[in-house]
Amino acid sequence: MITSIILAAGIGKRMYSSTPKVLHKICGREMIFYSEDAVRNISEKVVLVISKSIPREIFKSGEILAYQDPPLGTGDAVKKGLEAVSALPGDSLILITTGDNPLIKEEDIVKLVDFHLNGNNQISLLSAISDNPSGLGRVIKDANNSFVKIVEEKDANDEEKLVKEINVGTYIFRKDVLEEALSEVGNNNTQKEYYLTDSLEIVKKKGMKIGVLTWNKVLPVYGINNRYELYEATRLIQQEILVSLMKNGVTVINPDTVVIDHGVKISNDVTINPGTMIEGSTKVESGCELGPYARVVNSVIGKNTIIQFSVVVNSLVGENCTIGPFAHVRPENILANNVKIGTFVEVKKSKFNEHSKAPHLSYIGDATIGKNVNIGAGTITCNFSGLEGDKKNPTFIEDDVFIGSNSTLVAPITIRKGSYTAAGSVITDEVPEESLAIGRAKQVNKEGWVKRRKKSNG
Ligand code: UD1
Ligand code: CA
Repeated sequence: MITSIILAAGIGKRMYSSTPKVLHKICGREMIFYSEDAVRNISEKVVLVISKSIPREIFKSGEILAYQDPPLGTGDAVKKGLEAVSALPGDSLILITTGDNPLIKEEDIVKLVDFHLNGNNQISLLSAISDNPSGLGRVIKDANNSFVKIVEEKDANDEEKLVKEINVGTYIFRKDVLEEALSEVGNNNTQKEYYLTDSLEIVKKKGMKIGVLTWNKVLPVYGINNRYELYEATRLIQQEILVSLMKNGVTVINPDTVVIDHGVKISNDVTINPGTMIEGSTKVESGCELGPYARVVNSVIGKNTIIQFSVVVNSLVGENCTIGPFAHVRPENILANNVKIGTFVEVKKSKFNEHSKAPHLSYIGDATIGKNVNIGAGTITCNFSGLEGDKKNPTFIEDDVFIGSNSTLVAPITIRKGSYTAAGSVITDEVPEESLAIGRAKQVNKEGWVKRRKKSNG
């Protein structure tokens, strides 16, 4: 069986970021988890070598973590990883890959394992042919095409820099061979780091067999070191997500303008219009139409719902709802089936039951709204007294209520079943069932006023 070590403790200087490199996200997911996916199924154990600046909480509870602080190079990182599995026998296989190459897939790892086993190698490594090898370690071979060494760009001479075969950073070693070689690796190089790559030359010089599997994929990046490379990898992974959705019955009108995260689930017969971002753990059921220009984050969207030019965050949206254009559905809303949240409506921490509507220009916060409620244009729930810290007061609107346009509902407040509020009312007291609440100054008409005024003005 194989134990995998994922190297992820480097600082990632070239990202110019306060976030550790392997926590930068690709399609909504930290890049280290793509590396983990690639090795998980073929590994008995996976060891993640990380720095203490990476919070433990982002990993699942069973994961084996090894810490490397400070990062003294990839060779030193592997040593730290091996300490976590020191009890394994010497002939165990150790697969090493980096946490900054999310484009390596399980199928690539499986090929490398097969290659290793079939070739009776002591070490096998994955190489690739790159037209733009700049920055990567070069695989140096002799006249017989046998492996000689890996030389880092910064340590390479002019001739070595011309080599296009690069080290992808994924290897399989026998554990005892690796441990012995690492004990001999020094840091006498430009970066003063302990290079894992030097261990291969050490092993080779001892006459052991090192196999190089040249990858059949040509990629724009092999390892992410800067934000441009992050973009290149994101572009490819985003494309994979979109292609897979389209092959499973999702219509994407203009895929180049759409962003869909790794964890998103979308059923068939959904249409995604241009400019739409669907993020996090969002689930979209069939028949929905999202966009143009919708942003949906960590939400569930029921069948046949339409969301246009709107933002929906951390909310549950039922079937046959319409949201937008220009609505803001903030966190913690529950919208039942057939609900309408219309233009310039903001809702927060509210529950709308079936067939209720807030079609225009409203703020509805901390409200529980029954069935068949109509909320007139310009209605505001005044949930924030401003006197009790951050506390927000609740509004209860029962079934079949009609809230007149421009009503101001001063919470805490309850509007009982079947009642009406008159347009322009400020409602401060509970409204009993089936009543009309009028909370505004009575209209006064002063007949002849205009004429009188004109006369007095001369
Ligand atoms: C490394 C290889 C290079 C290869 C390239 C492929 C070495 C010396 N060089 O170079 O031959 O072409 O990957 O992408 O191995 N890390 C640690 N601890 C450290 C240093 C790095 O855990 O002390 C981790 C990083 O977090 C990263 C990975 O190892 O995930 C690779 O490190 P990085 O500094 O990016 O190495 P490269 O210069 O890209
Ligand atoms: Ca790298």
